[in-house]
Amino acid sequence: MNWDQDITASLSIKYPIIQAPMLGITTPEMVSAIADEGGLGSLPVGGLSPETSLQLIRKVKAKTTAPFAVNLFTHDIPAIDLNDADIMQDLLEDLSEKYYLGYERQDVATFKFHSYKEQVELLIGEKIPVVSFTFGIPDETSIAQLKATGVLLIGTATSVKEAVLLEQQGIDMITAQGIEAGGHRGTFLEDGPLPQVGTLPLVAQICKAVKIPVIAAGGIYDGSTIKAAAALGAAGVQIGSAFLASDESLAIPAFKQALQHISETDTVLTRSFSGRWARGIRNKFMEAVEEAGIRIPVYPVQNSLTTSLRANAQKKDNINFTNLWAGQSAAKAKQEPAAAIFRNLLMQIGASDQ
Ligand SMILES: Cc1cc2nc3c(=O)[nH]c(=O)nc-3n(C[C@H](O)[C@H](O)[C@H](O)COP(=O)(O)O)c2cc1C
Repeated sequence: MNWDQDITASLSIKYPIIQAPMLGITTPEMVSAIADEGGLGSLPVGGLSPETSLQLIRKVKAKTTAPFAVNLFTHDIPAIDLNDADIMQDLLEDLSEKYYLGYERQDVATFKFHSYKEQVELLIGEKIPVVSFTFGIPDETSIAQLKATGVLLIGTATSVKEAVLLEQQGIDMITAQGIEAGGHRGTFLEDGPLPQVGTLPLVAQICKAVKIPVIAAGGIYDGSTIKAAAALGAAGVQIGSAFLASDESLAIPAFKQALQHISETDTVLTRSFSGRWARGIRNKFMEAVEEAGIRIPVYPVQNSLTTSLRANAQKKDNINFTNLWAGQSAAKAKQEPAAAIFRNLLMQIGASDQ
C-alpha cells in the first residue's frame, strides 16, 4: 500500500490503521488486542475522572507492552441553563413512566464536569506516547506540557478551517472526520452551520491545505475504503464502526444484533442523547425528543441528564432508549475478536505479510 507519508515510525506501530476511540464501547481488551496486532489502539477517557482514566490506562498496560493512544474530549465546560434542563427532565420522566424505564430526576445545579486539563498530568506521568483528542484544541499550556515530554498529538477536524487551526497550534497529525462517521462530530468551530463534509472531499481538501499527516475517518470498513483513503492522500485511517460488534465491545447484545440488520440509510445525526451532534441508528428516543420540540440542553449537560435512562435501557437490553452510535458503514459489523477483524483488514489491503 502506498501512503502519502509514513506515520508508523513516529507512532511506533506496524500498520497505519487506528482503532477509533469509542467511549462506552471500547474496552482495555479492545485496545490491547489492536496494539498487539501492530495497529494503534486508542483508549477513550473523554470526560472521565482522573481516577477512572488511570484505572483504564493501567488495565491496558497490564495486557500489552505495545504503545497505545489515549483520547480526550478537549471542549470548554459550559454554563448550565437550569430552565432548559428542567423541561428536559419532565420529558425524560414522562418517557420513563410510559415505557417502564426508570429515571432518577437530578439536581442539575450540583452537576460537576471533568475537564481534560485534569487528565494532562496523569497522561504525562503514565508516559502515554500518543494523545488524540476531539471537540476542541487543548489550551496552550496543555499542548506545551504534553509536547515537552515528547507526546505526539492527534487532533480531530471536520472542516479544512479546523485542520489548518490544529496545524497552526502545533498539533502533529490530524484525523479528518467525515460526516459518515459514527459517534459524535468532532466539530469545534461554531462560526457557522455544522460542517457536513463527506470523508472523500474532506480528506482530499485537508491533505492539500496542511503539511502534517492526515488520518481519514468515517465510513472506512474494508480494503477498498482503506485504499480509497490512501489514494486521497491520507497517511492512515481511523476505524470505529467495524469494531462495534467485536467480542471486546461493550455494545449490548441487541445493539450488536441490530447492526446485522441495518442498511446504510438507518443512521442519522442527532443531538437528542448528549446535546452534541452525533451519528447513530435512529430509534424511539430520538424521535420522542424531536417530537417534543423542546430545547435540548448543551453538551455535556444533556449527556448527564440522559445517563440514568440510557443505563436502565441498556440493563434491559433495550435499544429504543439508549444511544446506538454507528456510522454509515456499520451494517454487518463482524461479531468476532477485534484482532480477527483487524487481520482481515490487513489481508484485504495485502499488508498481512509485511
Ligand atoms: C460508538 C462510538 C463512540 C465514539 N467515541 C469517540 C470518542 O470517545 N472519541 C473520539 O475521538 N471519537 C469517537 N468516535 C468517533 C470515532 O473516533 C471515528 O471518528 C469514527 O468511528 C469513524 O467512523 P466509522 O464509525 O465510520 O468508522 C466514536 C464513534 C463511535 C461509533
